[in-house]
Amino acid sequence: MAQQPMMTYFLPPSIQFGAGAIRNLGEHVVAFKGQKPFVVTDEGVTKAGILSKAIEPLAAAQIEYAVFDAIQPNPIDLSVLKGVDAYRAEGCDLVIAVGGGSVMDAAKAIRILTTHEPPLEPYYVDVGGVDRITGNLPALICVPTTAGTGSEVSQGAVITDTSGRTTEGPRKRAIVTPYNMSSLSLLDAELTVGMPPGLTAATGMDAVTHGIEAYVATRYHPIAEGVALQALKILGKNIRQVYHHGDDIEARAEMLIASSMAAFSFQKGLGAVHSLAHQLSPEANIPHGIANAILLPHVMTFNLPHAVDGYADIAAALGVDTSGMSKKEAAHAAIDEVNSLNKELGMPAGLGAAGLKRERIPKIAKDAMLDHCYKFNPRPCTEADMRRLYEAAF
Ligand SMILES: [Fe+2]
Repeated sequence: MAQQPMMTYFLPPSIQFGAGAIRNLGEHVVAFKGQKPFVVTDEGVTKAGILSKAIEPLAAAQIEYAVFDAIQPNPIDLSVLKGVDAYRAEGCDLVIAVGGGSVMDAAKAIRILTTHEPPLEPYYVDVGGVDRITGNLPALICVPTTAGTGSEVSQGAVITDTSGRTTEGPRKRAIVTPYNMSSLSLLDAELTVGMPPGLTAATGMDAVTHGIEAYVATRYHPIAEGVALQALKILGKNIRQVYHHGDDIEARAEMLIASSMAAFSFQKGLGAVHSLAHQLSPEANIPHGIANAILLPHVMTFNLPHAVDGYADIAAALGVDTSGMSKKEAAHAAIDEVNSLNKELGMPAGLGAAGLKRERIPKIAKDAMLDHCYKFNPRPCTEADMRRLYEAAF
């Protein structure tokens, strides 16, 4: 091993994993000395009856709480500010996020602004926000209701900046800090069994993208590499099963833990898929997981000469029988496997079919260069590469 520069690695928070874990929520609030939790969620979670499962244990433990459910998919900065106002008005002292990535990311941003001066602008990673965020934060308990984003263990929170300060129109920006990892995550597969197949597939492919991008990302992080590969093994074994048989609680549980693992692993870095995908939700309303799934095989093809060994490992992890293959053949097989997953999971054939207008490609290719994720891509990318990748995936 070559001599490496000094690195600091952050390990995931406490995770309680098991069907029914949500029933202990009240005890955890007490353990964190919370007097009044602020429960962040969205209408979808409320309507699906999942929120009531999360707040029953609070009521049973006679813990007073406030619910804030005004979070939309791809959460915007304005809802974060509203959330902070509500947190203060209710006199809360702990944050609980019950939902998917959008809810957890919004909850993380709300939590930061409870102790850091608003607005969000100075805390985004692209303006050096990591140095402005301290650990002086209320406890955060994350309860994911989808399996994919892994926001419960990640250091990132992706928020749509509507200010127009950095680009024409809204843009997704990230707040990244080790303090963003939850204080505790409750992984309860019972909360994910009701997810419809389309959402199961999209969020599952987000997790697959995390594992693949992290494994070949350029940062030196052997802990994350090992976790990424194991996450891909579990995802490869279970993603088709949960899509076709959503009531398989064991497969749901496997997807849930693997999505946390894949998200932990992207401490190593992500890649061009995420920089490209981050433009597609504000631009064309394409859900994050679907944008990733469509772009992933195209970026892998672009990266191939720089990631042959990594992709060969990934093929085997995803369950491809690579015995007798050369490294190069196995690397190609990883791309084939992603294409076959996309097909079986009903992903749209291209970005055009998913709603992107072709004439917008030059604009979003430019914006993709403002995103931080591609900086760890195994093959360096220029704006022209971003344009070509959008075209290829169109
Ligand atoms: Fe993602």
